[in-house]
This record gives sequence, structure tokens and C-alpha cells, in this order.
Amino acid sequence: MNDNTRQRPTLVLGGTGKTGRRVVERLAARGLPIRIGSRSGEPRFDWEDRSTWGPVLEGVGSAYVSHYGDAIPGAAETLGLFADLAVKSGVPRLVLLSGRGEEEAARAERAVRDSGAELTILRSTWFAQNFSEDYWQEQVQSDEVALPAADTPEPFVDADDIADVAVAALTDDQHIGELYELTGPRLLTFAEAVLEISRAVGREIRYVPISIEDFAAAAAEQGVPSEVVEMLTLLFGEVLDGRNARLADGVQRALGREPRDFSDYARAAAATGIWNSRATRAA
Ligand SMILES: NC(=O)c1ccc[n+]([C@@H]2O[C@H](COP(=O)([O-])OP(=O)(O)OC[C@H]3O[C@@H](n4cnc5c(N)ncnc54)[C@H](OP(=O)(O)O)[C@@H]3O)[C@@H](O)[C@H]2O)c1
Repeated sequence: MNDNTRQRPTLVLGGTGKTGRRVVERLAARGLPIRIGSRSGEPRFDWEDRSTWGPVLEGVGSAYVSHYGDAIPGAAETLGLFADLAVKSGVPRLVLLSGRGEEEAARAERAVRDSGAELTILRSTWFAQNFSEDYWQEQVQSDEVALPAADTPEPFVDADDIADVAVAALTDDQHIGELYELTGPRLLTFAEAVLEISRAVGREIRYVPISIEDFAAAAAEQGVPSEVVEMLTLLFGEVLDGRNARLADGVQRALGREPRDFSDYARAAAATGIWNSRATRAA
């Protein structure tokens, strides 16, 4: 990051989401200026409303680009258009959060690269924090996690590691041109991940494999927004065939340290009380 860029804010798209808010916290802790890009940001940013894109890019030095659903068909075109505008607006330094093993996300990576941006790609697998900061959290609280994930092992990655890599990339030009595949240090099936959570909270939480159709119906009934149901249904159908059942070294290459293990995540999340059972909460 040169001095000119350092003085200008970093735009953090998805800055209220699981990785974006961690990026915001870390940049703020370094005293770096930030602009949050989300529908609740100021100025407001909405991926669905292109008139909001120019104002958030004005005067910024770099951007963390997290789309709300990079697996959704059409996301690649949207991300490509945004990257083109960023480069034309004098914001060539982009750090893109992408999904590993996803066809649409791979198209999005190409579209963003084609913009000519000074790009770092963070290609990530399932976040551990889906169990504590998204609606799977409610399933843990109710002692049963029902997902269409069968018994495929996945290298769950910690959102704190993703944010650490993102901030390294946003603040150090040596990461330009890098593609970091980000995984945790261990493969776990969803059943094993839920068992880790069960141990950490000290009560039995069951993992129940269900069909994609039952999952989509139950999620809609629980009030999960339709675009989130669409994205998760796509993802569960696409990436859980074992294609991501291998570890990668992106965290080590970017940060020179090992990624955080799922059991450390589970212990820390349990200690916050976030998974206390519904019954305990009601008492
Ligand atoms: N979760 C995972 O396990 C995982 C794994 C690999 C890749 N990814 C990818 O990472 C990306 C982010 O996922 P996530 O789970 O971290 O999301 P998240 O925590 O749910 O955050 C979504 C963010 O997007 C913003 N947002 C939603 N709709 C928007 C819109 N129309 N315009 C502008 N901003 C909007 C939200 O802010 P407001 O509501 O304030 O607008 C929020 O900041 C997705 O592309 C996903 O495919 C996720």
C-alpha cells in the first residue's frame, strides 16, 4: 500500500457480513480509514442497483469485494461490471472473496481479473462461523443440525483467518496477483463438525442428513431469505461431491502461520454462550 492509497478509505463490500465485518474491525484497529459497502452503509451500496456503485467507489484506495451470493447465476457478470467500474474509477486494487469449487464463482474470478484490476483472490471453503453467525446457529441451539451434506469431508475455514488474509492483501502489495485457496487444517464431515460443537457446549447436538428439497422447504419455513435459500441449495447441490475434500496452504502462504482448527473455533464460540440451548435461554 503506498502513502496515497493509505490515506484513502478501503471500501469493504459485505462489510456487515461474516468476513467483511472482521476486515472492518482489523483495518479500524490499524487506524486505517474504511467505508462499509452494504445496503445499510452510507452511502448505501446495493449490488442490485448500479446507481449506488459509483458513489461508494468515490475517493477510495482499494476494495474488499464480497458479493452476497457468488454461486448465484449472474453473479459473475455483476462482479465483472463492478470491477470494470472500480478500475475506471481509479480503484484498481481489489481483494476478491470467492468460493472454492463453484462454477459461477470461477466465472466471477475471471470476470474480475479481466477488468485489469491489481487483484488478490481468496478462494474459500465453508466458513466455521456458519454454525454460530448464520441461521445454522439456531439449529445448534435447538440441538439438531439438519443439512443436506451427507458424509463428505470438508476443510472448514475460520472467518478470522479469511479476514487476516484479506487485511494482509489490502495493506501489502506483495499479495497482488496471488490466488490463495483458504481452508482449515483438517477435513471434517458435517457430522464430525457438529460433534466438535457438541463437545464444546457439553450437550448432545445431533447431525441429521436430509435431502436438498427438505432442506430448502425447512429453511424457507424458518424465514431464511429466499436468495440465501437459493444460494445454499445451489452450493449443497454443487460442491459437496468431494471436490473440496483436500487441504490447501493459502493461509500459510499469505500469513506464514497455520490456520485455526475447528475445535479452537468451537471452544471459543461455545464460551460466548451463543449456542446455549433454546430451553436455557427461555429459563
Ligand atoms: N458462508 C460460507 O461458508 C462461504 C464459503 C465460501 C464462499 N462464500 C461466499 O462469500 C460471500 C459472502 O458470504 P457470507 O456467508 O459471508 O455472507 P453474509 O455473512 O451473509 O454477508 C452478506 C453481506 O452482503 C451484504 N448484502 C446482502 N445483500 C446485498 C445487496 N443486495 N447489496 C449489497 N450488499 C448486500 C450484507 O449486508 P446488508 O444486509 O447490510 O446489505 C452482508 O454484509 C458469498 O458470495 C458466498 O458465496 C461463503
